[in-house]
Amino acid sequence: MLRRLHPDQPASFAFTPANQAWAQAQITKYPEGRQASAIIPLLWRAQEQEGWLTRPAIEHIAEMLGMAYIRALEVATFYFMFQLQPVGAVAHFQVCGTLSCMICGAEKLIEVCKQKIAPRAHMLSADGKFSWEEVECLGACSNAPMVQIGKDYYEDLTAEGFAQLIDDLAAGKVPTAGPQNGRFSSEPLGGATSLTDYTGEAQNGSVALATRIGDTIKRIDGTEVPLLTPWQDKPAAADAVTPGAIKDHEPKPALSTPVDKTGVSKQEAQATPKAKPDADPKAAEVAQPAPQMLSAPQGDADDLKKLKGVGPKLEGVLNDLGVFHFWQVAAWTPDDVAWVDERLKFKGRIERDGWIEQARILADGGETEFSKRAK
Ligand code: FES
Repeated sequence: MLRRLHPDQPASFAFTPANQAWAQAQITKYPEGRQASAIIPLLWRAQEQEGWLTRPAIEHIAEMLGMAYIRALEVATFYFMFQLQPVGAVAHFQVCGTLSCMICGAEKLIEVCKQKIAPRAHMLSADGKFSWEEVECLGACSNAPMVQIGKDYYEDLTAEGFAQLIDDLAAGKVPTAGPQNGRFSSEPLGGATSLTDYTGEAQNGSVALATRIGDTIKRIDGTEVPLLTPWQDKPAAADAVTPGAIKDHEPKPALSTPVDKTGVSKQEAQATPKAKPDADPKAAEVAQPAPQMLSAPQGDADDLKKLKGVGPKLEGVLNDLGVFHFWQVAAWTPDDVAWVDERLKFKGRIERDGWIEQARILADGGETEFSKRAK
């Protein structure tokens, strides 16, 4: 199947503060120079937050990990777990169509999808609430046929039961995950003949967890589970974490080990001592005088990440250049833009994302559509 980015993309992406903290904590799990290893969990988190994986999200995560965009895009387009087009606002059904499920009635489940959701896979239902696709074996063959929604499995389904499940979701209910025929887990249909001491439990472990979290149809904002890493002694929940709180754990560029043989990673580029703008040979080629830069913020620095297109990495670059406030950006002349643009990794974004227009609004104490979202 051809997997391409959807033609209609949002203008920008930002993790919620809690998800941002979670993502930064994930990065610290990997040794220096290997931060790109966090690509899958971060892409997955972005998808859980937004419902599907957008191009701005992929690029944002690539920047967080110091990866070339194409490397992140390769991962996103390779794995079927990543949805590259909008999915149903309530649920996206992944119907297993492999052998066991097919023998046990997957075709009837797909027929239900066609009738109740949309005639073709990856189409949104008329109300935009649902979408579906057929996927390969999801490893729950002993409970065939089955459907995955988000992280949860709904197993031992019948066409009627599945149709009811869709109706329940449409009515705002969260049906209990797991076997739908009364089975505890994957014991024989006739009942367990060994390990029978489970009978005191109401639900198997997976279902109990899914029920407790209730995240089958919920967007993940980062606050629903403790955001722990081994070196955190308390959850990094939205109200418990400030960017500074985890700054000491932020990944440092590798000093000697390139992240891969292509040499395209930012880690490798950053492995050499950071040059001052004036010492940068490229900077020397730029004739324009530098815009007004500061050696330190005047009072509290503004949150430059409120500018669409500015992530934590880019904010750090701007701070290193001496940009801490929206009023500075708002006052940039075309020459200033050229000067700053020359020092950014991805040129043209100042104009493309409209930084100056945004900065004028923010400097006056207003909010842009993006800054409201970024909050
Ligand atoms: S065949 Fe459907 S889960 Fe394995």
